Amino acid sequence: MIDEAGRNRSANPVDVDELQRFRLDERVAIVTGGTGGIGTRLCQAFARVGARVIVHGRDEARATALAQELRDAGGQALASVADLTQRADADRMVAEAMAAYGRVDVIVNTVGGGAGTALHAAESYPESEWDRMFDLNLRSALLPTQAAVRAMIAGGRGGRVLHYSSVRGQLGIDNGFSAYVAAKGALDALTRQQATEWAKHQITVNTVSPTFVATPQSAGLLADREFRAGLERRIPLHRIAETDDVVGASLLLCTDASSFITGQILTLDGGLTACQ
Ligand SMILES: NC(=O)c1ccc[n+]([C@@H]2O[C@H](COP(=O)([O-])OP(=O)(O)OC[C@H]3O[C@@H](n4cnc5c(N)ncnc54)[C@H](OP(=O)(O)O)[C@@H]3O)[C@@H](O)[C@H]2O)c1
Repeated sequence: MIDEAGRNRSANPVDVDELQRFRLDERVAIVTGGTGGIGTRLCQAFARVGARVIVHGRDEARATALAQELRDAGGQALASVADLTQRADADRMVAEAMAAYGRVDVIVNTVGGGAGTALHAAESYPESEWDRMFDLNLRSALLPTQAAVRAMIAGGRGGRVLHYSSVRGQLGIDNGFSAYVAAKGALDALTRQQATEWAKHQITVNTVSPTFVATPQSAGLLADREFRAGLERRIPLHRIAETDDVVGASLLLCTDASSFITGQILTLDGGLTACQ
């Protein structure tokens, strides 16, 4: 058998179902931005590997519909509506998870983005836009994580935190993206700091950093054929990621399979950063 820390406790290693390490049976997983492109796919994946899923969204109708879809498919899920740039909302979302299921084991933070809506020259980047992008891409990960980790520490069973950053946290881009790249770079740094502080509680903290993923958020830009073709040329695997592509990396980093991995930024970019 595989224990909670992901170790093989079986007398006969041949008996081990190695895929058990990638399951989340009985565990409670909060997916922030669960109504978004990446978040929706992760809610489905986590429900399929046995998690009780908190589908977070800002839009009640969409979050409720997705939670219902997961239950109809045999999973366990409930919707939670919150503005995660507000501490009271983030705390309430975690309190709702605790009230329903009595524990929190995993939080995945996918709220963020908006890069294309805040393009300004670096030398005159407006403070109001800077603050808006930092709220959307950094505060929205900080506040729910703090609330979830307090519950994990109190539960004493360890846990998993997974942030969603961007390759732009590591790479500049000549087009007015100051606040987005700075916020994602700060999220990468926060990953290492939280991992260091929470290791004593057996809570791991990691980050997935994609380049473009085909979601409603990126659809506008990707609809521009010339832009898309240029991207596909620069990415060594010569395609844009689909939401399916984020599932394997996220399951790895949210389950026992990653019991000794913490503080890491996993780029999910078809090789883009490998050749910069
Ligand atoms: N898609 C890409 O190409 C790509 C590339 C690199 C990195 N990423 C990162 O991956 C993450 C997910 O991207 P995505 O494409 O799945 O984005 P998305 O489809 O736009 O989903 C974002 C989610 O966050 C929610 N949200 C936005 N502001 C919020 C707030 N203040 N409080 C609570 N929820 C809020 C949105 O709710 P509403 O639907 O109600 O607005 C939505 O559920 C983001 O952090 C993004 O930066 C994405």
